[in-house]
Amino acid sequence: MERKVQHYSQFMIGLHWFTALCVVIAWLLSEGGPKIVRNPPTWHFVFGLAVLLLVVPRIIARLAGGAPPFDPHMPPLLQLAAKAGHGVLYLFLIAMPLTGWYAASALGIPVTVWGVTLPALTAPVQPPPGIVAELHSTGGTVFLVLAGLHGLMALYHRFVLRDDTLRRMMP
Ligand code: HEM
Ligand code: HEM
Repeated sequence: MERKVQHYSQFMIGLHWFTALCVVIAWLLSEGGPKIVRNPPTWHFVFGLAVLLLVVPRIIARLAGGAPPFDPHMPPLLQLAAKAGHGVLYLFLIAMPLTGWYAASALGIPVTVWGVTLPALTAPVQPPPGIVAELHSTGGTVFLVLAGLHGLMALYHRFVLRDDTLRRMMP
């Protein structure tokens, strides 16, 4: 008889994959250096801010019990590592857009999305835009590497451990 897979809710699954797509697109469209002041990468801002917009309902749903319990056969240490890893990913999902928005403000670039200009998070400075912008630029690539490792872990669960972890996040 087939075992029942403990799925995430369709809402959490939708948010997970749509967010992952936005992160990858934001990264692909990212640019740095003095040229972006003259020609700001608007779509980088849009997809990056979408990540921030999506993480809010996601955290609320998560706190309201939006994650199914781990497979009881999963070793406690692996459960702990998964929890810590997911926590770090959530941290990046919040920190990346906020530091990016701050970096744009420091560079004096107005962050305008569909005609609405968001308030600046800091006063403009003479370039270089400072440590927060540096953390953002380096953090963006660190984030992609961590998300890639996370994806590989999911494939490891699927094809080596042969458990239901990946299926939990599939519609
Ligand atoms: C998940 C979301 C995001 C990711 C993964 C990401 C990633 C990156 C990366 C990798 C860079 C370095 C590009 C390079 O130097 O070639 C960068 C630069 C930048 N990003 Fe983002 N970003 C995100 C969100 C945002 C948002 C929401 C904004 C603004 C509203 C933003 C504004 C900027 C700015 C202004 C720079 C240039 C910083 C500088 O040159 O010092 N980013 N981003
Ligand atoms: C930028 C890309 C990604 C980000 C930011 C991301 C982020 C996250 C986060 C924060 C969670 C925890 C969800 C929660 O419990 O509230 C999660 C779970 C999960 N992710 Fe991703 N993810 C990304 C890409 C991927 C990819 C490419 C795969 C598969 C190849 C994947 C497979 C999974 C699976 C299977 C889970 C559920 C784990 C479990 O059941 O405990 N993710 N992801």
